[in-house]
Amino acid sequence: MKKITIAIDGFSSTGKSTLAKQLANHLGYIYVDTGAMYRAVALFAMQNGCINADSFDKQTLINSLPNIKLQFKFNTDLGFAEMYLNEANVETEIRTIEVSSFVSKVAEVSEVRTKLVEQQKEMGKDKAIVMDGRDIGTVVFPDAELKIFMTASATTRAQRRYDELVAKGDAVTFEEVLANVEERDYIDTHRKDSPLVMAEDAIEIDNSHLNRKEQFELVLELVSEIA
Ligand code: C5P
Repeated sequence: MKKITIAIDGFSSTGKSTLAKQLANHLGYIYVDTGAMYRAVALFAMQNGCINADSFDKQTLINSLPNIKLQFKFNTDLGFAEMYLNEANVETEIRTIEVSSFVSKVAEVSEVRTKLVEQQKEMGKDKAIVMDGRDIGTVVFPDAELKIFMTASATTRAQRRYDELVAKGDAVTFEEVLANVEERDYIDTHRKDSPLVMAEDAIEIDNSHLNRKEQFELVLELVSEIA
């Protein structure tokens, strides 16, 4: 079987990471969650006073970029890599609603994107990688052999995210989560640098009515036609 690059893009909470992890485990590929990288930069911005409820000091964040070290370290118990920011495991902190509410603003900054895209390209240089995000098939790996674009209705996606957050014990309301999903959709699709668009050669999967197993089998079939 030849090694390929699999790019999975789409709106937030479409189950990209679940599918990407399943594929990577099955194929013995590396999995990279690029959303975690943008989230870690947003967390850094929050921890260092660059961003708060009413202001975002972009320039301070841009000046601090050389001090931001992002790494994935594989956790054998969990079976996937966790995000480290300057040597600290931030896997839990980056998934909070506070980080979700700032991350798209941070992801609009071109200097942030340039730094992260460079690191992502480097991670994928030997192929055998599944990477998920918003610009993987369009910017990071425009030559990926397989590009998937995942969609589902905003309500379906908000319900999934709400269930996840509640299961973790976060005090959120469904309306708050839906508003966040819709706000991120808007910013992600309207930003100047690398907006979320489907690559011309991507295959669209609307998983509003597909379960995880059905979705996985569908994509595995696509992989077997190429690899
Ligand atoms: O995938 P996830 O929902 O964790 O991504 C968080 C945010 O990071 C997205 O809403 C988007 O603003 C940003 N992002 C991005 N480009 C990527 C991955 C994520 O702009 N490749």
